[in-house]
Amino acid sequence: GTTLGASAAESGRYFGTAVAANKLSDSTYVGILNREFNSVTPENEMKWDATEPSQNNFTFGNADRIVNHARANGMRVRGHALAWHSQQPGWAQSLSGSALRSAMVNHITRVATYYRGKIHSWDVVNEAFADGGSGARRDSNLQRTGNDWIEVAFRTARAADPDAKLCYNDYNTDGQNAKSNAVYAMVQDFKARGVPIDCVGFQSHFNPQSPVPSDYQANLQRFANLGVEVQITELDIEGSGQAQADNYGRVIRACLAVARCTGITVWGIRDSDSWRASGTPLLFDGSGNKKPAYTSTLNAL
Ligand code: XIL
Repeated sequence: GTTLGASAAESGRYFGTAVAANKLSDSTYVGILNREFNSVTPENEMKWDATEPSQNNFTFGNADRIVNHARANGMRVRGHALAWHSQQPGWAQSLSGSALRSAMVNHITRVATYYRGKIHSWDVVNEAFADGGSGARRDSNLQRTGNDWIEVAFRTARAADPDAKLCYNDYNTDGQNAKSNAVYAMVQDFKARGVPIDCVGFQSHFNPQSPVPSDYQANLQRFANLGVEVQITELDIEGSGQAQADNYGRVIRACLAVARCTGITVWGIRDSDSWRASGTPLLFDGSGNKKPAYTSTLNAL
């Protein structure tokens, strides 16, 4: 193939990007989006603060702009994210206990029902485990509602949209470590008990402090062996030139070597679109030109 999406499709995979609704009027941005990508993830527009700014008042305008663009152009949509400790509206941040649990369930039901049939994969729960060596859950208002909040979120999402693939998504789980071991144990437990989970997302935000792990492919494979899909969900890699290109190539080849690695999403199009305040972690430069990392990615697909 001559584009990322077409090349990924040759092996039955998708190649996606995070999209910001307010950039859909930028013709350079949209030109690259429509040419190269066949999946989109709303970068912020489906998060709790965006979709339920006051309790039980739902606003889908910006998310709909992205979903409509995707559907009009034959792209899949990854939904991101139904339950997360971050980017909660103020009213939810001030809830706790059963009131917060009920609000979470209502939020998942309403958002997943609204988009029922339009979402390829949902990040049902995002970033619920702690960094470091504890293997513990991250402390958060959601965690303090009870350890079962994650399975409740997945069961609620399944009931609302039975055809979407339901993913657990996290960072620093890209190699084998205490955090990914804890996620692995949770997925194993969910599969054993029949809690609905279909996929695990590996954010894959890499930089010199957190490089592509040497056991990246092995880690994807061990999760796949549990009977879930694995997806690379928010890929970006700090750096430039051939070193960055080589790292992108390693990530892409790892996914292609794992049969159940079904798709790759980069977290933005041009370096200037990146959530990173500085740096050049993406596949296109600020003018929209293809970087060496693009060529390496395309060649690896
Ligand atoms: C980031 C967005 O890119 C930023 O625009 C926003 O200010 C903060 O969130 N992990 C995730 C994503 O799951 O939702 C985050 O996106 C990046 C880290």
